[in-house]
Amino acid sequence: MKKKSIVWINLALVFALIAGLMLPAANAGAAGKKKKEAKKVLVVYFSATGTTKGAAKKLKKATGGKLYRLKPTKPYTTADLGYENDDCRANKEQNDENARPKIKGKVKNIRKYDVIFLGYPIWWGKEPKIIRTFLESYNLKGKKIVPFCTSGGSGISGSMKGVKASAKGAKVKKGKDLTDLSYKSVAKWAKKQVKGK
Ligand SMILES: Cc1cc2nc3c(=O)[nH]c(=O)nc-3n(C[C@H](O)[C@H](O)[C@H](O)COP(=O)(O)O)c2cc1C
Repeated sequence: MKKKSIVWINLALVFALIAGLMLPAANAGAAGKKKKEAKKVLVVYFSATGTTKGAAKKLKKATGGKLYRLKPTKPYTTADLGYENDDCRANKEQNDENARPKIKGKVKNIRKYDVIFLGYPIWWGKEPKIIRTFLESYNLKGKKIVPFCTSGGSGISGSMKGVKASAKGAKVKKGKDLTDLSYKSVAKWAKKQVKGK
């Protein structure tokens, strides 16, 4: 064999050796990228008469997230919720832009959650003011907030403006009214919300 050919063969062998050494490292990098950490989900809700609680439980089951009920320091009585009476507590709060009903306790380590599903009943077309208390009590910068509600038919759209204004720095997604939705429909929607941007 000629001297030149021997040099080329040796060079090829060296290249093959280097490539062989580098390939596993490159693969490990790709695998590392693939194995993305699962998003941490929190399902926070306020429910005065239990309907929103039912929707929140479906979301917890579908996402594997942590469930957290917002409890007013002063619970709402039946009289407080009697909306046919102009002077009932709920109506007065909804008519007062500055009302921020106090909440008992705090979510521990809210920092660790990436996605927060936020549920409430619709009161006079909007979110109850206690939802604003919640949103304004934490640093929610960079979090994805997915509103959901139950209602007698008004739907969630009228509450989006207030929720967005109180959720400073968060990415608030288009919310959904989950009243009467089956578990299957709720789960399908919820998984899409967790995955999506
Ligand atoms: C004070 C008050 C105001 C309400 N206003 C509305 C409304 O504007 N539109 C609507 O569709 N339902 C309205 N509702 C009905 C609730 O949104 C509905 O019953 C909801 O599912 C209750 O949820 P909860 O059981 O989790 O509290 C109102 C209920 C109350 C107590």
